[in-house]
Amino acid sequence: MQLIMMGAPGAGKGTQAAKIAKKYGIPQISTGDMFRAAVKEGTPLGKKAQEYMSAGKLVPDEVTIGIVRERLAKDDCAGGFILDGFPRTVEQADALNEILKAQGRSLSSVINISVPLEDLIERGVGRRICRSCGATYHVKFHAPAKENVCDACGGELYQRGDDTAETMQKRLSVYESSTRPLIDYYKQSGIYAEIDGKQKIEKVTEDLENVLHSVKG
Ligand code: AP5
Ligand code: MG
Ligand code: ZN
Repeated sequence: MQLIMMGAPGAGKGTQAAKIAKKYGIPQISTGDMFRAAVKEGTPLGKKAQEYMSAGKLVPDEVTIGIVRERLAKDDCAGGFILDGFPRTVEQADALNEILKAQGRSLSSVINISVPLEDLIERGVGRRICRSCGATYHVKFHAPAKENVCDACGGELYQRGDDTAETMQKRLSVYESSTRPLIDYYKQSGIYAEIDGKQKIEKVTEDLENVLHSVKG
């Protein structure tokens, strides 16, 4: 299964993609997570990505397409994958089609988690992430049993540097201008599905699984 999980910043892509990846045994490919890992390691890619990420801007297409091209060539993607946060521009979407075509495969489904703009800032600002295992929480909507401690592994929770109200605003405006046009792009493909992301996390997962039941290859 070759899947794309689309949605605005804070819509719940990562939360849902992690569950689908686990259930179907396919890798979750989050370009945001890949950039954050590179920043942490201090690689040249990380240094370049950091400038854009902290400003809430998109990392340039040629850089992003390059890392996805390399990632999709890895063995663990042979049985499928779920892309989380890629593509985000029409150029990236066109490049993805070419990469898959060259591999003799195509997309199975593009799922958009739709959440009203006014809810997204609160989701971003309240998000907390585990330093050890990467699990995602929310101070109000998905709180850990013990404040700032991961339920899954006991790790310490932290807040992403770009999860301030100000940078969230910027990310949302970049989403509107550069990424929202992809909805029409994929609607024409016949493999597009939209899910109401305003519902509780578990209900969103249920709707997502219902869509995936009818997806082939
Ligand atoms: P990235 O890390 O992808 O950030 P994003 O797209 O802004 O999305 P988020 O990770 O913020 O949100 P999400 O949809 O994953 O939501 P989550 O599940 O965590 O990208 C970061 C940066 O990297 C970009 O700004 C850019 O600079 C760069 N980048 C990445 N990809 C790029 C690309 N392709 N091209 C160029 N640049 C790129 O949920 C959010 C919160 O809400 C959590 O706290 C969660 O617990 C909570 N929540 C989830 N679902 C629900 C629900 N149903 N109800 C209530 N709360 C919920
Ligand atoms: Mg995410
Ligand atoms: Zn953890």
